[in-house]
Amino acid sequence: MLSKLVVLLFVLLFFLEQAKYAEGASERDDVIKGLLDKVAKSQIKETVPYDFPFNFYKQKGVFPSNIRLNFVGSPEDTLIRREFKIFDNNAFVTLWVSSILLETVRFNKAAQPSDEQMLNAIQAVYTYHDKNFLDHNETRLVFWPQTYNETAGTWSCAPLNLDKTVAMGEEFFVLAEKMFKDLDLKKFASKIAEFIQSIVDSVAAFYIPADFDDTFVNIGLGSLLKNYQSVSRQPYLSWLSNNTNNVQSAVKALKEYSYKPFSSSSGNSYIDPRTYFYLRKFLQKSHGTGQLFLVTTWVESLNESRAKYYKKYRMPFNINNVDLTVSANVLYGLTAAVLSDMQDPNSWFDEEVQMIYLNTTSLVMYEISNNFSSRPDLALTYYPSVFNFYWFTSRILNLLNLCDQLPYPVMQTVREIMRSIMYGVGTEFILKQATMQDNYIFFDDFLGVNDTDEFGKPVNHGDDRISSTSMAINALFYIWSNASSGQLSPNVPDNVQDTLVRACDWLTDEALSDKLEHMSVFFSGSVKTGDDLPPLFPANFIQRVNGSAILHKNSTNFDDVITAVTGLIPEDKYQELLNEPFFGYKISYDFHGYNSEGDYFPFWSSDTFTYAACICFSTVSV
Ligand SMILES: *[C@@H]1O[C@H](CO)[C@@H](O)[C@H](O)[C@H]1NC(C)=O
Ligand SMILES: *[C@@H]1O[C@H](CO)[C@@H](O)[C@H](O)[C@H]1NC(C)=O
Ligand SMILES: *[C@@H]1O[C@H](CO)[C@@H](O)[C@H](O)[C@H]1NC(C)=O
Ligand SMILES: *[C@@H]1O[C@H](CO)[C@@H](O)[C@H](O)[C@H]1NC(C)=O
Ligand SMILES: *[C@@H]1O[C@H](CO)[C@@H](O)[C@H](O)[C@H]1NC(C)=O
Ligand SMILES: *[C@@H]1O[C@H](CO)[C@@H](O)[C@H](O)[C@H]1NC(C)=O
Ligand SMILES: *[C@@H]1O[C@H](CO)[C@@H](O)[C@H](O)[C@H]1NC(C)=O
Ligand SMILES: *[C@@H]1O[C@H](CO)[C@@H](O)[C@H](O)[C@H]1NC(C)=O
Ligand SMILES: *[C@@H]1O[C@H](CO)[C@@H](O)[C@H](O)[C@H]1NC(C)=O
Ligand SMILES: *[C@@H]1O[C@H](CO)[C@@H](O)[C@H](O)[C@H]1NC(C)=O
Repeated sequence: MLSKLVVLLFVLLFFLEQAKYAEGASERDDVIKGLLDKVAKSQIKETVPYDFPFNFYKQKGVFPSNIRLNFVGSPEDTLIRREFKIFDNNAFVTLWVSSILLETVRFNKAAQPSDEQMLNAIQAVYTYHDKNFLDHNETRLVFWPQTYNETAGTWSCAPLNLDKTVAMGEEFFVLAEKMFKDLDLKKFASKIAEFIQSIVDSVAAFYIPADFDDTFVNIGLGSLLKNYQSVSRQPYLSWLSNNTNNVQSAVKALKEYSYKPFSSSSGNSYIDPRTYFYLRKFLQKSHGTGQLFLVTTWVESLNESRAKYYKKYRMPFNINNVDLTVSANVLYGLTAAVLSDMQDPNSWFDEEVQMIYLNTTSLVMYEISNNFSSRPDLALTYYPSVFNFYWFTSRILNLLNLCDQLPYPVMQTVREIMRSIMYGVGTEFILKQATMQDNYIFFDDFLGVNDTDEFGKPVNHGDDRISSTSMAINALFYIWSNASSGQLSPNVPDNVQDTLVRACDWLTDEALSDKLEHMSVFFSGSVKTGDDLPPLFPANFIQRVNGSAILHKNSTNFDDVITAVTGLIPEDKYQELLNEPFFGYKISYDFHGYNSEGDYFPFWSSDTFTYAACICFSTVSV
């Protein structure tokens, strides 16, 4: 498995470098062992009930993640960002960590997880199948656990620990002192109150329906498990027993709920005004080149969301959106399901699905080529980490590069589009984010980048450096390697190879170190700042969920308000609207970074996810 560079080193530096390489490789093996151990240990072994302040609810089989708040600035802010957290149980992290573990085994047999680990994860994930649709023979997945609401006759989703903690009100602070006794809480009381308040404000946004993200990441996991049968059969059989016709039903929903901007007579032409803001240039470019169907985030229509508003099964802001990371995960799920021959692809990979597949690829590649329309926060609606997005996207190309002949012409087309962008501007974008220090290379996104020390001097804490570096490595490697051999492609550019070597060396030293945090921002709400609310964006459809008109556009409670764009708004008209105030606010529509002053948004972080992302680098043969 010696790559071009290693061969080169042999030639140039002979024994000296040979010895160094051998040493580096064994050091890396030790790190991988340590990482695998961390992941295995972190999985919840037995369910722990909610008993605040002593215990948060922890579900057996789940890989942990935490809800945090992106406080930025003083050492106090840094401390709260790092220490104040609420345990979260969700499908997403468990699905992803399991997928990463399986994917790593393709190239590194030594990294094999135990069957018990996989089985516990699969059983936990099963509880996230939307219980409102199980009787209808439909597999849809939700992000959070559901509880049954008798009055509404509906299963409703919520981040349980957060929900219960918020419900405690004032009592929370008394108890929190016990929990966070290491912190001088009085000093932080106002900040923590802010934290709780921001969560209370957004709690209505958490009663969400099923989503295409979890639904298709689950299908991706199924494909990996199917291929993993040569190593172990049991995990796939267990998954299969709970997912008999899931591809068919997911694809049926995908068609039913896709965004169809040019079909203005259908209910599918309505979209979140923030989505319209960032992808309207793509719409304009695609207009006149045929129909356009795009993957959405939520498995719900506008009318269904209205009907279920009071039953607490509804989309945030009552309207669907298009998120590029969700799109990438759906594209991966479809690609993997076709290539692993799941549930007879000829029966479900029909013309309409192929269209969604092609059109969504076009969108994702357009946005990579166009700087995410200068609004990465809107384009990566729920997943702020740009390295996360690139990694997820690179996995699709890696799969498509597996074989020369792909089973459907549309897959050939999609591969051509992806190659032209990912080998070019996609790679350039990642390389541009690199920081070189002492011959090492690492990557920072934004966590802890804009802090200050006790003297008020700027300091970069690099709280997501480990996670960002691992994901950037994975992205570059997946773009430039052959999925069946695990080798870097012979035409990998020198700067990519050099970056991979230096970043892998950095990660070998730091992946397990406790000098740096292992935080990531794998998930967040869609609202990062006060300027991110949908009603503040140009729209051509505004009313309440019950259909009544909004007479005075000066309200600040947008909970039962729907604002949407349907069809296209001519660009000159749109530009005029951008200069108008909405609901009394006139905003700039510029993105000032995730650390801009005074905006502290909640985010989801998982050390386990970071450890798993680091394990993946063991496959990089440089
Ligand atoms: C569920 O759907 C699949 C595929 O659409 C079908 O083969 C199966 O018979 C259905 N099962 C039930 C119980 O309706
Ligand atoms: C799902 O899997 C669990 C455990 O593997 C099993 O007990 C259950 O019967 C399965 N459910 C369905 C609907 O197949
Ligand atoms: C949504 O509901 C409205 C009002 O009840 C109705 O006019 C419209 O046809 C519905 N749209 C769809 C796509 O079902
Ligand atoms: C249950 O549903 C009812 C009626 O739709 C709603 O008013 C209530 O808030 C819900 N209860 C909970 C705990 O979410
Ligand atoms: C969307 O798909 C349709 C059908 O395959 C195709 O005609 C159209 O050109 C595609 N548009 C884009 C932007 O991918
Ligand atoms: C790219 O987007 C960022 C916002 O994320 C913006 O600051 C920058 O000016 C944009 N660059 C170009 C070349 O448009
Ligand atoms: C990837 O490797 C396999 C086997 O090692 C080889 O058959 C295939 O042609 C390679 N693909 C590319 C795109 O180089
Ligand atoms: C719709 O909701 C608004 C706000 O709650 C209320 O004022 C109005 O009376 C409702 N309209 C109907 C037709 O129920
Ligand atoms: C909104 O405007 C209307 C009409 O000008 C006024 O009657 C109402 O009090 C205002 N509401 C708020 C919350 O400012
Ligand atoms: C955050 O830090 C980066 C890198 O040092 C800098 O470019 C950026 O302007 C800072 N942003 C804010 C809002 O302070």
